Amino acid sequence: MKEISLLGASGSVGESTLKVIKRFPEVFHLRSFSVHKSLERAKSIIDEYSPTTLVVTDPDVDPSILGEKYGSAKILYGFSALDEIVSEPRVDIVVTAIVGSRGIYPTLKAIACDKKIAIANKETLVTLGPYIKNLLRKSESLLVPVDSEHNALFQLLEKWERSEIQSITLTASGGSFRDLSNDQLANVSIKDTLNHPTWKMGPKITVDSAGLINKSLEVIEAHFLFDIPYENIDVVIHPESIVHGYIELLDGSSILYASHPDMIYPIAHSLFYPKPTPSTLISRKLPEVQNLSFREVDHQKYPALRLAYEVGKKGGTGPALFNAANEVAVERFLKGEIRFIDIPKIIDKVIQKIPIILPENLDGYLHADSLARKTASETKE
Ligand SMILES: NC(=O)c1ccc[n+]([C@@H]2O[C@H](COP(=O)([O-])OP(=O)(O)OC[C@H]3O[C@@H](n4cnc5c(N)ncnc54)[C@H](OP(=O)(O)O)[C@@H]3O)[C@@H](O)[C@H]2O)c1
Repeated sequence: MKEISLLGASGSVGESTLKVIKRFPEVFHLRSFSVHKSLERAKSIIDEYSPTTLVVTDPDVDPSILGEKYGSAKILYGFSALDEIVSEPRVDIVVTAIVGSRGIYPTLKAIACDKKIAIANKETLVTLGPYIKNLLRKSESLLVPVDSEHNALFQLLEKWERSEIQSITLTASGGSFRDLSNDQLANVSIKDTLNHPTWKMGPKITVDSAGLINKSLEVIEAHFLFDIPYENIDVVIHPESIVHGYIELLDGSSILYASHPDMIYPIAHSLFYPKPTPSTLISRKLPEVQNLSFREVDHQKYPALRLAYEVGKKGGTGPALFNAANEVAVERFLKGEIRFIDIPKIIDKVIQKIPIILPENLDGYLHADSLARKTASETKE
C-alpha cells in the first residue's frame, strides 16, 4: 500500500488524483491532503477516503468552522502545515497539485525528505529550476511529471538512448482562442477565456493555455526536467489533444505518445511509476485518429512563447521573472483590470525591466519573484 499526500485535492488535478486512488484502493491510500478554502469538498473527501490529516491553507478561513478534527482526520491550519504532512515518514508519494508558486515550499520540503513527487505544480520548477536540480543531485527524491506532455515525453525518453534523440516536441491545444484572429483577441471576455475546448482545468492554467503561456512555462519545465537544450525543444499546435508529445530521432523518424485528453493517464503513471500502470485503467479506445492535425505556432498571436525561450536561454532568474509576472497578470485579468492581450505585454515589460542574475541561493530566486510581482502589479499595460 502506497501512502499519498495530495496537495490541492479540491482542484482539477487533485480531483483526477482522487479518482485514481479510488480506482486502486488496494494499491493507494490517501494519507493526507490540503485544500485552500473548499471546506465542504474537504469534508466529503474525508468521508470517502479516511485520511489522517487535512491542511486548510487559506489564512482567512475561520478554524472554528471545522475545528480540530473531522471524521478520521485531524485538521491543521496555515500554509506551513503543508511541511508537516509532506515530511511525514509514512508518506510514500507527494502529489503537488496546488496552483502557482505557492507550491515552492512544500516541494522543497518533499525533496529534502527524499520523497517521490508526482509534480503537477510547474510554477515551482520554472521559478527555481537550477536550484531544484542542484538539490535533486544530493537527494533520493524522484520527480515524476504529471503534466500530460511531460509525462508522455518522460515515458518516451526512458525508452530511447539520449544519443539517438535529436529533439523533443510538446503539443499545444491552442487553447480557447485558437480559431480567433489577432484582432479578435483584443476583446475576449473572462468567460470566453475560461472555456477550454479540450481540457477541463483550473482557472489559472486555462487562462495560461489560451495565450500559450502554459506551453511557455512547459518549455522551461521540460528543459529542467529532461536536461535538453532549448534549441532542441519544439512546440506545435495540435487541436485534438490526442498526441501529447513526441521525440524526433537522429535517423529522422519520430515516436509519438497518444492517449485520451484525460489527466487520469499521466496521474496514474506518475503514481504507479516505476511499475507500469495496470491495463485496466480506462477501457475506452482512442477516438478515430485519421483526423489528427498539427500546425506551426503563430508567434504574433502567441508572443509569450518567444519570451519564454528568451528568458529560458538567459537562465538564472529569467524564468522566475516570467512566471511571477504571469501569475500577477493572470490575477489582474481575472479581476477585470486588464485585457487578455495585456498579459504577455506585462510579462515582456517585467523581463525587460528587471535585470536577470544567476543567484547563489534560494533567496536570490525568491527576491526576483517578489520584484517581478511588484513590477507586474504596477505596470500599466
Ligand atoms: N488542470 C490540469 O489539467 C493540469 C494539468 C497539468 C498541470 N497542471 C498544474 O497543476 C497545478 C494545479 O492546477 P489545477 O488546474 O488543478 O488548479 P485548480 O483547479 O485551480 O486547483 C488548485 C488547488 O490548489 C488550491 N489552492 C488555490 N490557491 C491556493 C493557495 N494560495 N495556496 C495553497 N493552495 C491553493 C485549491 O484549493 P481550493 O479549491 O480550496 O481553492 C485547489 O485545491 C497548476 O500548477 C497547473 O499548472 C494542471
